[in-house]
This record gives sequence, C-alpha cells and structure tokens, in this order.
Amino acid sequence: MNAIVSVTSDWAIGNKGRLVVANRADMRRFKELTMGGTVIMGRATFESFPNGPLAGRRNVVVTHDASYGHDHQGIVCAASPQEALAMVAGDNPDRVWLIGGESLYRALLPECERAYVTKNDTTVEADAFFPNLDADDGWQVEERGDGGVTAAGIPFEYVVYRNVGNDNDR
Ligand SMILES: NC(=O)c1ccc[n+]([C@@H]2O[C@H](COP(=O)([O-])OP(=O)(O)OC[C@H]3O[C@@H](n4cnc5c(N)ncnc54)[C@H](OP(=O)(O)O)[C@@H]3O)[C@@H](O)[C@H]2O)c1
Repeated sequence: MNAIVSVTSDWAIGNKGRLVVANRADMRRFKELTMGGTVIMGRATFESFPNGPLAGRRNVVVTHDASYGHDHQGIVCAASPQEALAMVAGDNPDRVWLIGGESLYRALLPECERAYVTKNDTTVEADAFFPNLDADDGWQVEERGDGGVTAAGIPFEYVVYRNVGNDNDR
C-alpha cells in the first residue's frame, strides 16, 4: 500500500473539510496513479468528493457507522482502519492507495511502503495535517521532481518517500 497526499510547506492538507490548494496537474496525476486500484479513505474525505465515489477505483470508506454502506452506492465500508487493511490483504500492494484524511493517514501510514507527496510551496489556514516526513528518520526521499506552478502561481514538486522503517511488504 502507498499513501498519496498533497501538502503545503507546513504539511497542511485540509481546512473545514476541504482541500487547501487547488492544483489541477496534481489532481490528474492522482487520477492516473490510483486508477484501476483500491482507494482507502475516512468518511469525511469521502463526503468531501463533489461527485461521490471515485470512478474506476474500489472505494473503501472507514466509518463507525454500520449502516453507512447501505445509504451510499459504489463504496464498501470498513469499521476500522485495520478492517480496511484486511479487505485489501489479497490485492497487489502497488494498487492500494491510502488517500486520507488526517485520521486515516495517522492510523495507516506505518503500513505504507511509499508516500507520494505533492509539496505546494505555500502556507494557508488549516485544521488537518499530514505527519512531517522530513522530520522522521523512518522515511527517506526516494525521488524528487519539479511539478510546475499552479494556476494561482504556487510552485510545487512531487516527492516520493520510502518507508525505511517498514519491513512488511505493503
Ligand atoms: N491534501 C490531501 O491530499 C487530502 C487528502 C484527503 C483528505 N484531505 C483533507 O483532510 C480533511 C479530513 O481529514 P479528517 O481526519 O478530518 O477525516 P477523515 O480521516 O477523512 O475521516 C474521518 C472519519 O473516518 C472515520 N474513522 C477514522 N478513524 C476511524 C476508526 N479508527 N474506526 C472507525 N472509523 C474511523 C470516522 O468516520 P465516522 O465519523 O463516520 O465514524 C471519522 O469521522 C479534509 O479537510 C480533507 O479535505 C486532504
């Protein structure tokens, strides 16, 4: 399993249930990378999607609400992050993506082999954050590439971190 996330300079990822940086190129890359695979997310992230489940991907939504899956089509529900992991145990690990939000990243990041981080060179008001991988010896930069500049003029780069403190193969 790999994590994928878009952060600001101080690792902010969201504010009041929404993303904090509009980045079309990054959205396209997210779609390309995750297409055909499984995406694991928290209920709040699922509800932030304007058009429901992400097409062409198996959407696993983590929630305490046992009836949630009956009320929303096109998703499968897990009662905990661990149950979501169990659901993808037979999948190709490279096709399983942890897509947020903060609570799910914090719960399952240790299980990820890599983190695909889009770093937007800006700071904004935020209430949701990703762990700072630059301050964590368990994560090392494997690849770094210039992304360009967003429509609002924010430069960004794509950084792939590898979990070097992680022995298992997901
Ligand atoms: N920048 C990015 O790449 C990115 C990506 C994704 C999300 N985001 C942002 O992140 C923010 C949302 O993050 P968040 O942490 O507030 O929400 P979240 O992780 O998306 O969802 C939280 C919900 O997940 C369920 N959940 C979490 N832990 C659970 C557990 N142990 N067992 C059962 N259910 C559990 C609960 O649902 P119930 O309340 O239904 O029980 C909880 O309320 C938003 O602002 C969003 O836009 C940013």
